[in-house]
Amino acid sequence: MTATLPAPRAAVVAGLGGWIPHRAVDNDELARTLDTSDTWIRTRTGIRRRYTIAPGEATSDLAVEAGRRALKSAGAADADALVLATSTPDQPCPATAPQVAARLGLGPVPAFDVNAVCTGFVYALATAAGLIATGTAERVLVIGADTFSTILAPDDRTTRAIFGDGAGAVLLRAGDRSEPGALLDFDLGSEGEQAELIQVPAGGSRQRSTGLAAPARDHCFTMQGRPVFMHAVLRMSASTQKLIDRQEWGTPDKLVAHQANIRILNAVGDQLGLGEEQVVANLDRVGNTVAGSIPLALADAVTDGRLAPGERVVLTGFGGGLTWGSAALVWPDLPVEALPHQPPAA
Ligand code: ACO
Repeated sequence: MTATLPAPRAAVVAGLGGWIPHRAVDNDELARTLDTSDTWIRTRTGIRRRYTIAPGEATSDLAVEAGRRALKSAGAADADALVLATSTPDQPCPATAPQVAARLGLGPVPAFDVNAVCTGFVYALATAAGLIATGTAERVLVIGADTFSTILAPDDRTTRAIFGDGAGAVLLRAGDRSEPGALLDFDLGSEGEQAELIQVPAGGSRQRSTGLAAPARDHCFTMQGRPVFMHAVLRMSASTQKLIDRQEWGTPDKLVAHQANIRILNAVGDQLGLGEEQVVANLDRVGNTVAGSIPLALADAVTDGRLAPGERVVLTGFGGGLTWGSAALVWPDLPVEALPHQPPAA
């Protein structure tokens, strides 16, 4: 007997929310304890400020707030699955997602973490779209949340200048490809041969199986900035171009890329022939928030009018692994709350 499979259902973005913690750290504050300056950080990265959690706070606290805002934006009371992208879970085991689902009152839904570092949000979107396509779920809450302030070496000026804590979330619902907000296409990739470029050397099975204590510094995040920069430009440009070609868009209206460095965003925009106004940036306000970065940039862009309903958007990320990934969609009409704690524009 043969059976014709129905066309897979599309996953449609139905809600969006972002959250950052209260404590703002500007460049001048960093320069008081590190050998750096506001001028160096602004000109080399474009970042002016980042936010950090308070003692005792954790990634799940940010994830819950972002998830709540995404549900509210969608006018939804709940979701029937939760995917959390993070590489700074509340604890190594178990995953953080089930606790987030419980605190959001979602009931006994499937909930799990995805770790693709700064690409995590795009990987989580693709995973959630799969849950919807297979009929496993009707509405999936996808959250990207990280607290890199907890894994940076206090004296590492390179990483402390860049990273901030934050979370962003979207609610995906089952729908049709022709609807605004439908995730039209994905491109995902990895290159494990380059894993050492972005890593926390200790704390996993490789180190723990030795039975030897690791130096404290090996439990901190390290990144080889220059080669990572080059890989980021190459991978995000190529991945975005693939989707533009497959969608036959010629050029997208907006690119919302992982917010690591303004020079990376400008280089990717140049490679793709995009104008500065087409490349969304909010890293000046929040720094690199890792898995929170893309939904936080989306939330900022929607609330300040830089991203409008009907615009063709590519989301693209790059991060540890190495990993990269992109998604294409036409932006839907959604009510989105402004990010909290932002000082008024200068
Ligand atoms: N303040 C002052 N000087 C600094 C600072 C700082 N905060 N950071 C580095 N420097 C110094 C370096 O020590 C070096 O000094 P030297 O010439 O005396 O050795 C000099 O500045 C140049 O260093 P580079 O590393 O070449 O600086 P670069 O211009 O490449 O900027 C940066 C460094 C910002 C890290 C950049 O390489 C970058 O953005 N890389 C990509 C980051 C990224 O894309 N991450 C995404 C993935 S992250 C994830 O997945 C978690």
